[in-house]
Amino acid sequence: MTRVLVTGAGGYIGAVLTPMLLDAGYAVRALDRFFFGRDLLAAHDRLEVVVEDCRKLAPAHFEGVDAVIDLAAISNDPSGELFQEATFQINRDSRVRAARMAREAGARRYVLPSSCSIYGFQEDGVVADEGSPANPLTTYARANEMAERGALPLADESFCVVVLRQATVYGLSPRMRFDLAVNGMTFGAWKTGRLPLMRDGSQWRPMVHVRDAARAQMFMLEADPARVNGRVFNVGSAGDVHRIGPLGELVAACVPRDVEIEWYGDPDRRSYRVAFDRIEALGWRAEKTAADGVAEICAALEAGAVDKTARTVTLEWYRELERWSRVVRAGGDPRDRARRKELARWRRVVREVEMYGGIVEI
Ligand SMILES: NC(=O)c1ccc[n+]([C@@H]2O[C@H](COP(=O)([O-])OP(=O)(O)OC[C@H]3O[C@@H](n4cnc5c(N)ncnc54)[C@H](O)[C@@H]3O)[C@@H](O)[C@H]2O)c1
Repeated sequence: MTRVLVTGAGGYIGAVLTPMLLDAGYAVRALDRFFFGRDLLAAHDRLEVVVEDCRKLAPAHFEGVDAVIDLAAISNDPSGELFQEATFQINRDSRVRAARMAREAGARRYVLPSSCSIYGFQEDGVVADEGSPANPLTTYARANEMAERGALPLADESFCVVVLRQATVYGLSPRMRFDLAVNGMTFGAWKTGRLPLMRDGSQWRPMVHVRDAARAQMFMLEADPARVNGRVFNVGSAGDVHRIGPLGELVAACVPRDVEIEWYGDPDRRSYRVAFDRIEALGWRAEKTAADGVAEICAALEAGAVDKTARTVTLEWYRELERWSRVVRAGGDPRDRARRKELARWRRVVREVEMYGGIVEI
């Protein structure tokens, strides 16, 4: 039996990947601070849950581990800008350290789920492949690129390192994210008939379904090292690369009500078209498209199975955790009777994630 250490297992991708790994017969050590809740992974006799900060990884976490899928991260651009230092600690330093510790502990594989956002901006007409120069424009993208550069040289004949540059993910997860393009557009369109679109709509963005992203990670656990070791693979499909404006129209057409576009933000300077020939040459294919993601999210919204709350918007949730952990640590304001209930609720939430001094700092 293969044991996989999945960091960030309680996240949007991790909460989908973990049950898929268990279904496929793997044993999973799920390590996370569980910032988004501890109840997202169903108990299983091959699932071991470790509540730990990835900046505190120790040799014991790698004992008996055959492979690592290293998902723990501050996972988007705005959160990366707000928590820059933590983003470099978690997304760059901890991942490189995890790869090194995995190798020292005798694990055979390390999969780094990076991001196509490291292509940043590419001129119109350019379709970036894994050999194209990176152009990271944000702290989040820079940390990803540095993590790649730190992890890849650790590859050797007995330790297989694979980098996956994932397209922007969409679709349902137990840790739902409505701060991702397709998911956010679907929620706005379904709920209010107003679909939020980031200006100016001409920017290119590759997309991939969350189950396909997880399938690609599982694929790399078994792929022939001779074909994948020390290499980078974009994850997505040519049919799911969109300009944001037409993608909004596609989403609107899939939602069962009249929809208006609501433009927001300054013009997005990130724009990248991406090629997926390298991963497809291995026989891996994405199975879903954005329309499938919209349909499943609409069905879940219709059924009341999912809703947009602070917890589903990464930046908002991290901000709330930071704010409330300060209030809770200070003991709250006893004169503030109106907020007692809220304070009690946050005390519980903060207790769940606060093992050290802070939320994104340790
Ligand atoms: N979702 C996307 O569109 C997308 C696209 C490309 C790449 N990625 C990458 O995939 C990975 C997972 O993304 P996601 O969408 O699941 O994000 P997410 O925010 O839902 O999950 C990240 C998980 O990491 C955990 N975490 C954060 N800091 C931690 C720490 N210091 N110690 C332990 N756990 C910590 C969080 O609790 C959370 O469960 C990230 O590296 C992200 O950058 C995501």
